[in-house]
Amino acid sequence: MTLLTILRYPDPRLHTVAKPVAAVDARLRQLVDAMFATMYEAAGIGLAATQVDVHERLIVIDASDKRDQPMVLINPEIIWVSPETRIGEEGCLSVPGIYDGVERSLAVKVQALDLDGKRQTHEAEGMLAVCIQHEMDHLLGKVFVEYLSPLKRNRIKTKMIKQIKDEARDAAGR
Ligand code: NI
Repeated sequence: MTLLTILRYPDPRLHTVAKPVAAVDARLRQLVDAMFATMYEAAGIGLAATQVDVHERLIVIDASDKRDQPMVLINPEIIWVSPETRIGEEGCLSVPGIYDGVERSLAVKVQALDLDGKRQTHEAEGMLAVCIQHEMDHLLGKVFVEYLSPLKRNRIKTKMIKQIKDEARDAAGR
C-alpha cells in the first residue's frame, strides 16, 4: 500500500482551497485507499486530501476506538451545526506534537457523496463532530492553529520549522 506524504504546517500548500471532486471513479477510490493507509499508519483520526497535496473536496475519518469505522466524505457540505459549542483539545497530523483548545459545535449534520457516488447525510456528535469540522476547515485551506492567538501560532510555526530542519539534518546524517 502506498503511503502518502503529509504536508506539514507552515507549508503554504495547506492554505489551498480545494475544488469539488469531479468523478467518483477508480482514481478516486485508489486515492481514498492510500489516504486511509496513511491516516492509520500515522495514528490519526482524520485526513483531508489537502494534507496530502491533493486539492479536492475529499476527507477520510475513523474516530472509533477500535479503528474499524472508516468514513469517506466526498464533496462534503455541513448543512447544520448545533448552537451549543465546546472548547476541546485538538491536534493535527500536519502539526505533529501540538495540541490546543478550539471551540467547535457539539453536533453537526454533513451531506456528502459516498464511494458509490450516492449522497448521504451523516449526523455526528462528540469526537466525530469535532473531527468533521476540523477536516472541513482543511478543505478551505485552514489549519486549526489559525484559531489560536498570533503569539501561540508564531511559536508553533517556529517550532515546526525547527522540527522539519532537524529531521532533514538527521536524515542527511544517516
Ligand atoms: Ni488536521
